[in-house]
Amino acid sequence: MRIYREKDYDAMSRRAAAVIAAQVVSKPDCVLGLATGSSPVGTYKQLVQWYKQGDLSFAGVRSVNLDEYYGLAPDHDQSYRYFMQASLFDHVDIKPENTNVPDGLAKDPAAEGERYEKLVAELGYADLQLLGMGRNGHIGFNEPGDHFPVITHLVDLAQSTIEANSRFFASADDVPKQALSMGVGTIMRARRILVVVSGEDKAEAVYKAVCGPVTPEVPASILQLHPDVTLVGDESALSRLTEAGV
Ligand code: GLP
Repeated sequence: MRIYREKDYDAMSRRAAAVIAAQVVSKPDCVLGLATGSSPVGTYKQLVQWYKQGDLSFAGVRSVNLDEYYGLAPDHDQSYRYFMQASLFDHVDIKPENTNVPDGLAKDPAAEGERYEKLVAELGYADLQLLGMGRNGHIGFNEPGDHFPVITHLVDLAQSTIEANSRFFASADDVPKQALSMGVGTIMRARRILVVVSGEDKAEAVYKAVCGPVTPEVPASILQLHPDVTLVGDESALSRLTEAGV
């Protein structure tokens, strides 16, 4: 695992954007696995800026997002489709038909999981998968449990995730209780993985993911088994690792 320790959120975002830009420049028709949440917002901002300066094009890029809240329409302002449009897709030259997010309104979520998994497989899985990390060590919406879910599936969100994400909704009651998420297997099939983490509240999860045992109780710990992971964090998110001498 390659670790970049950056002084703050902005420096973390620039570093992560540089890794993504390098991927897009070296393979303009690459498949990017994309993530939502506060962590990658600055990364997307930087990519948009480079696109506007004429330094980067997404014209050939195909994208697959990790997850979507179950029950939210694409135009709901807290849906992950909406987030991706507002944070990246509406501001760069990626072709709308080349962007993919699970359908939060699918009547049959099991069938939607299968459809999405097939789609990602047909694209050949991600060349580069961007990930944030939940405070409980979740990746995508793969919550701590007794096994690693393999393919795209319907997830019951952990109470701690509902609480963490309630900051974006009027109240915790408004947070959907379920989501469609790529499986850990889908994520691990990406050829490269880029993780962005920022803030003290992630320090413990980051430490467990990098130094702890590989266990489904900390879904991100499975990344230890992937051959090409880059972790970019700010000093506070990496503080427990620093203390441990990593
Ligand atoms: C959300 C998303 C994850 C994200 C994580 C952390 O629930 N499903 O993909 O990485 O939580 O979010 P944040 O970056 O806002 O801390």
